[in-house]
Amino acid sequence: MNLVFLGPPGSGKGTQAKKLAEKLGYVHLSTGDVLRQAVADGTELGKKADGYMKAGELVPDDLIIGLIEEQVSAGKLKNGFILDGFPRTIPQAESLRDMLKKYQVSLDKAVLLDVGEDEIMKRLLNRAKIEGRPDDTEDVIKNRIEVYKQQTAPIVEFYKGESILQTVRGEDTPENVFNALLQVAQ
Ligand code: AP5
Repeated sequence: MNLVFLGPPGSGKGTQAKKLAEKLGYVHLSTGDVLRQAVADGTELGKKADGYMKAGELVPDDLIIGLIEEQVSAGKLKNGFILDGFPRTIPQAESLRDMLKKYQVSLDKAVLLDVGEDEIMKRLLNRAKIEGRPDDTEDVIKNRIEVYKQQTAPIVEFYKGESILQTVRGEDTPENVFNALLQVAQ
């Protein structure tokens, strides 16, 4: 099954996608992880993305779409994948639909992890103490939530329209969320 994971920052997309991909033998592709690695390696992509990420803004669509198309055209996203953090805008969702069609790959479900704002803030401020991610400060988290509402939440309707949206309650223990995801992911 080929899946995209949607949800606000801190909803558990990365935690669950990684675990689920291991369990089911799927490919897990997180655009956030790819970008953080590019920043750490000081690549051209990393240099372009760094400022946007630190401010909690989205990196421009063309950079991200190019990155995903490389994976699809190389046949790396075919039988069993989870896209985590992509798409994040309507143009990204439309590009994904078009490129999957071009390479005859299906998208089976868009899974929305539903978590409220208070819980998001709590989780990310807690992570800040452990990992020190530069975008996990209170102001930047607030901006990331705002960016999610403005630019990413509309793709929930997009996938409703494609009849592949599935919502999972993300405000539960990691184990319960995982079990709920397992039900929808196979
Ligand atoms: P990205 O890395 O995708 O950040 P995000 O969406 O803000 O995601 P997070 O990693 O904060 O949250 P998550 O939902 O994965 O939750 P997690 O499992 O980590 O993107 C970072 C930046 O890159 C963006 O701001 C943007 O600049 C850029 N970018 C990336 N993709 C892009 C795109 N497509 N287009 C444009 N720009 C893009 O969990 C969070 C914390 O909560 C962890 O500490 C975890 O241990 C904890 N936790 C998880 N589940 C639970 C639970 N059930 N109960 C309690 N705690 C939990």
